[in-house]
Amino acid sequence: MGEEQLEVLFEETRLFQPPEEFRAQANVQSAGVYEEAAADSAGFWARQAERLTWFEPWSKVLEWNPPFAQWFVGGKLNAAYNCLDRHLDGWRRNKAAIVFEGEKGDSRVLTYQDLHREVSQFANVLKSLGVQKGDRVTIYLPMIPEAAIAMLACARIGAPHSVVFGGFSAEALRDRIDDAQAKVVITSDGSFRRGSVVPLKANADNALKQVQCVEHVVVVKRTGIDVEMQDGRDVWYHEAMENASANCPAEPMDAEDMLYILYTSGTTGKPKGVVHTTGGYMVGVTATHQMIFDIKEEDVYWCTADVGWVTGHSYIVYGPLANGATVLMYEGTPDYPNKDRFWQIVEKYRVTILYTAPTAIRTFMKWGTKYPESRDLSSLRLLGTVGEPINPEAWMWYYKNIGLERCPIVDTWWQTETGMVMMTPLPGITALKPGSATVPFPGVNVEVVDKDGQPVPKGSGGYLVIREPWPAMLRTVYGDPDRYVSTYWSRWQGIYFTGDGAKWDEDGYFWVMGRVDDVINVSGHRIGTAEVESALVDHPAVAEAACIGKTHEVKGQAVAAFVTLKEGVDVQAGFVDELKGHVAKKIGALARPDDIFFTAELPKTRSGKIMRRLLRDIAEGRALGDTTTLADAGVVNQLKEKYADEG
Ligand code: WTA
Repeated sequence: MGEEQLEVLFEETRLFQPPEEFRAQANVQSAGVYEEAAADSAGFWARQAERLTWFEPWSKVLEWNPPFAQWFVGGKLNAAYNCLDRHLDGWRRNKAAIVFEGEKGDSRVLTYQDLHREVSQFANVLKSLGVQKGDRVTIYLPMIPEAAIAMLACARIGAPHSVVFGGFSAEALRDRIDDAQAKVVITSDGSFRRGSVVPLKANADNALKQVQCVEHVVVVKRTGIDVEMQDGRDVWYHEAMENASANCPAEPMDAEDMLYILYTSGTTGKPKGVVHTTGGYMVGVTATHQMIFDIKEEDVYWCTADVGWVTGHSYIVYGPLANGATVLMYEGTPDYPNKDRFWQIVEKYRVTILYTAPTAIRTFMKWGTKYPESRDLSSLRLLGTVGEPINPEAWMWYYKNIGLERCPIVDTWWQTETGMVMMTPLPGITALKPGSATVPFPGVNVEVVDKDGQPVPKGSGGYLVIREPWPAMLRTVYGDPDRYVSTYWSRWQGIYFTGDGAKWDEDGYFWVMGRVDDVINVSGHRIGTAEVESALVDHPAVAEAACIGKTHEVKGQAVAAFVTLKEGVDVQAGFVDELKGHVAKKIGALARPDDIFFTAELPKTRSGKIMRRLLRDIAEGRALGDTTTLADAGVVNQLKEKYADEG
């Protein structure tokens, strides 16, 4: 988002006060919570920690040796126990924990008691396969209850999980299994995708050809397609569960024991394994979920993210279940079998809270209002968004056509690394501005700084940073603490750099503008330019590649690639598709470039750095910015001439 556009945003902004009806029943009704947290953030987080059940109390809220933090020092707890066992003492044991809607319209309800039983049984299955406390387990599953069951079973026995999004390719899966040195992989025969089947088990088999660490593969039968089961290695989930005992005490974990690893794209080709631990993470997600989503016992809460992303971890599984909420889980896409599928689901289950992504909203906008209008959305009382900046137009559309002008919208800014929402309205008290994630959550200290790390005055922009540690923060990069320090904490001493640019306005509201590093946000999914570049260079015809994010009406950003070919290579018909397909095969369909531009050379500075800024200008068909540092101005001119009409 350019500077100009932001100025316009500021001018047009209209404030939306929380409706009186909502305000009166909200979980947080007093703005005093901000002052209280600002005056004593340790005390604030200590009070939030009381939401959880601890086996042993902690002795100190925070031990901070920048940039390494320990939260709730000495405390012992178990995440699965907090999500399940403690709800079994009272009436909640018969409350729906997960309401599952399959792509085909099949549905399944698991009460807290059901979920507890399945998780305990599956935890015993994992133990019988040799998984011990500390061992890593990779989960590669569709959006089915077994994904949550597998995660919670790992948490129950203290085995960190690494969930890999089912849309990732075999090679991407292999890299993640290998980096985590996983002992067991949990997958399914396949996953449904718009009526067809994606062969997850076959992908896993391919991934496993090149790794040594995996001893067993557990396979959930979901689609019924044929799969090869390797003797001695592979077991069917349903067979293993048949004889598994439902008695599996939750392992007492130290607050700082690892709960999970989640891989995310960075600025190099190798994805980073973001490490989250148990105590602080659980405190962070439980408190934010309760306060931001205003969760009540009667709510039907639906977060449309996939469990393969952090949003699914924090706000489908750990936060909501720790709060004893009823969570709706949907397997499929918004357009299958029809474009009203989301609204049909809202109507069918009387969904009260809907948390989705701007890219989905822009897609719905394009499809038109007739789909939501054909369904009863009157059960909705709160809406949320996450994953990328929401343009005010999409915000207004969501507000009017889905929220029917009665539902507050919580625009939540956060990251895989932050674990929990960091900036957001509190829906009962915060006046909303379309397009702004508003203000930091209580106890969170966010700032916009200039290149020297100095706070910028209100009304201006810069780099978005986090000044103080927070409970759900990542603790390290798995197996690479140096990378943790250099990626996040080295630009300015003791300050966490988010990688985002932002402005804050005269009211102190934050406007996140998007990534300022080499990360592209495609439909709310982070893709590293370096990852796509190395996938392209992997093709035998490609000599060099540079990728950038190009503005896209629906996806927010799309990948555009500039490619130089090896000497003597001729661009044949179908070659562009072949290259795009190569990237999809190496990483997954989500990384497939929209555009590929061929060039004899890439524009570089005299020190050999690719000038992505100029590539962006070319891809967007804009006037070129400053070219004085270019080593060879001719390169850009040729590119510009060649792509002037296509850009
Ligand atoms: C972007 C997703 C603007 C941002 C939870 C961030 C947002 C990256 C918002 C993290 C928002 C997320 N407004 N931008 N409400 N939410 N982002 O790790 O660029 O997949 O750095 O975590 O998404 O993406 P990640």
